[in-house]
Amino acid sequence: MKTRFLITILCAMSASVFTFTADAQKKVKAAQTAPAPEFSLPSSETDQQKAERMQWWTDSRFGMFIHWGLYAMPARHEWVKNHEAMTNEDYEKYFKRFNPDLYNPKEWARQAREAGMKYVVLTSKHHEGFCMWDSGYTDYKVTNTPVGRDLLKEFVEAFRAEGLKVGFYYSLIDWHHPDFTIDRNHPLCPRDGGQEDFDRMNEGKDMSRYRQYMKDQVTELLTKYGKIDIIWFDFSYPGHPAGEGEAFWETQGKGHEDWDSEGLLKLARTLQPGIIVDDRLDLNDVWGGWDIKTPEQYKVDKWPTWNGKKVHWETCQTFSGSWGYHRDETTWKSPAQLLELLIETVSKGGNLLLNVGPTARGEFDYRAQERLNAMGEWMHFNDRAIYECTEAPEEFTAPANTLLTYNPKTNTLYISLLDYPLQRLNTAFMDRVDYAQFLHDGSEIEFDEEGFSLPVLKPNTEIPVIEVFLK
Ligand code: GLC
Repeated sequence: MKTRFLITILCAMSASVFTFTADAQKKVKAAQTAPAPEFSLPSSETDQQKAERMQWWTDSRFGMFIHWGLYAMPARHEWVKNHEAMTNEDYEKYFKRFNPDLYNPKEWARQAREAGMKYVVLTSKHHEGFCMWDSGYTDYKVTNTPVGRDLLKEFVEAFRAEGLKVGFYYSLIDWHHPDFTIDRNHPLCPRDGGQEDFDRMNEGKDMSRYRQYMKDQVTELLTKYGKIDIIWFDFSYPGHPAGEGEAFWETQGKGHEDWDSEGLLKLARTLQPGIIVDDRLDLNDVWGGWDIKTPEQYKVDKWPTWNGKKVHWETCQTFSGSWGYHRDETTWKSPAQLLELLIETVSKGGNLLLNVGPTARGEFDYRAQERLNAMGEWMHFNDRAIYECTEAPEEFTAPANTLLTYNPKTNTLYISLLDYPLQRLNTAFMDRVDYAQFLHDGSEIEFDEEGFSLPVLKPNTEIPVIEVFLK
């Protein structure tokens, strides 16, 4: 306690002393996590300051991811260029005909808001390299397709008008840029090749030009569209020496040095102070190298930690599997599964970024609309169990088939009933209950020292929630 007090005083007294303590902290962290990158990012932000910067995001809990690009046309996965080993020429047919005539981002924004989402992250460029804005650094952009307009600009304006915060996804990977070297994820990766084959194919390619291209583009994105709240870089897969039984091509990857992640991050933080950055720059072990952990397509067991501390985290999830529009996929999650995913995420202190892949005409697919509507219906009555909520304090154990979320500002506990119980729900914390009601209609729920008395009939809401005002 005393030491912490002393450090606080010293920090307040002198910036250089603070730099020293931050440096010391960096070293401790670097020592604990190996292998550590050879550089470190200066960060003068305390945990408290970070929590304040991230407050709007933590309170929001629910955002929309949008994957939209040329891959909406083949409609069979956003990795189609890779999966089918297509060349730029093969892929050109989509560029020539991209014409989403029904695109109306105001409609998208309305649907996101009505579903209860508070922020949005759109793919400005995905791995295919196609740019959804009028970039000055490439011809491979939306304004050169039949639709002929800067769709990103319209998008930003529409979502802001609906009151959502706006973020950009920017792919580090680029399967179209002439200087992007062929690696294990590239559509043209020679899977039976050795070093010589890669060298031959990569002759004349210059990653330093590609690094500059990324910086120029990120500068455009973060200076031409007003305040941008999130930048979502995707993704790193560092090269490594061959392990046992590993083929040469599998060792070929890209990490923070290939992207100059440090440079990109500094640029983003300088151009948009306060911006929230994901963790896919391969700066995981760097103090200040990321803001949020981003577990993709799986449910975490418990609140994720880093160096023993609980961290800000966001799980990104699809409705059906693919991120881009996929016409023939049949693995769509049900509204109940999606709501459970949302509640469970919040019950472990995280955010859910739920993805929509709009069609090549520019609309949300009917299956996505159905799910967004169902979630919106539930959120209309039950969003108090989501916004500003987090994991319940340890002393509250969730009864079977329930999830607990907790609003620390109002000291209210929310019990989401995944499997509606027959008339009784007993808990071990009844002594803490002051008053209880159903959240969807505000009707009183009577209780005794053992548990709550519930009506036989399940209320007309997908997952009923008991709102418990604590003593
Ligand atoms: C993966 C995929 C990509 C998708 C992303 C979303 O990294 O490469 O297609 O955009 O996850 O998190």
